Amino acid sequence: MSPGTTEGGLDVATGDLDARSLYGLLTSLVVPRPIAWVSTVSPDGQRNLAPHSYFNLISSSPPIIHVTSSQRRGRLKDTAHNIAETGEFVVNVASREQIELANHTAAEWPADEDEWTWAGLTGLPGRLVAPERVAGAPAAMECRLVETVALGNGTMFFGEVVWFHVDARVMDGHRVNVRALDPVARLGGPLYTPLGEVFQLVRPDWEQLRDGAPAPAAGPAPAVHAGPAFPAPPA
Ligand SMILES: Cc1cc2nc3c(=O)[nH]c(=O)nc-3n(C[C@H](O)[C@H](O)[C@H](O)COP(=O)(O)O)c2cc1C
Repeated sequence: MSPGTTEGGLDVATGDLDARSLYGLLTSLVVPRPIAWVSTVSPDGQRNLAPHSYFNLISSSPPIIHVTSSQRRGRLKDTAHNIAETGEFVVNVASREQIELANHTAAEWPADEDEWTWAGLTGLPGRLVAPERVAGAPAAMECRLVETVALGNGTMFFGEVVWFHVDARVMDGHRVNVRALDPVARLGGPLYTPLGEVFQLVRPDWEQLRDGAPAPAAGPAPAVHAGPAFPAPPA
């Protein structure tokens, strides 16, 4: 056991873990993961929809996000094929209200089956891209592929957001009200979580720290922020 590792903890070289264990470990440690409900269309017009939690923000100006499609039994999934071939996708925010529907679209539907129809979902036309967005989703981002990177068993698709749709019920002035967005995040295995407590942390100021402001101690969670629900972010 390495110094600092407690009895019963995990202390192992990557090479001693098989692929299944690695997947379980990583998807339980990299949490919570936001969920992109990704809409694509094949070159011959077949709609596709599937949730992806390997999803994050890369750049805000220009706005670039990525979704990663993992290979299934060594082959690209439909989402990966469609994005690679058409260069377009739409990321819908999977809210709590629709999370079971999003999960429904994760079944291994054959490429020629329409997940939208099976899940009873309605598609709304994109403004600038061919894939539809999900009716009822609180927000959707139309993306054009800017870069593809294959690493390990994942294919990362970097997309520039060319159009934002955010439902009026989710907007709070010029900001998104995250409570109204009601996102769900993925944890390990079949576990999910909605938004929990929301609290505010002020970013430390270097000069104040240099002049002796104390470093925080580890301890109980910060108090729940009681002011306006969604304050302006720090400059
Ligand atoms: C919440 C959730 C998140 C998922 N995240 C991913 C992911 O990030 N990458 C991936 O390849 N598959 C992910 N999956 C599995 C895919 O949704 C599933 O393999 C689906 O059948 C892929 O569909 P496609 O072949 O139409 O692309 C996820 C499933 C769920 C339920």
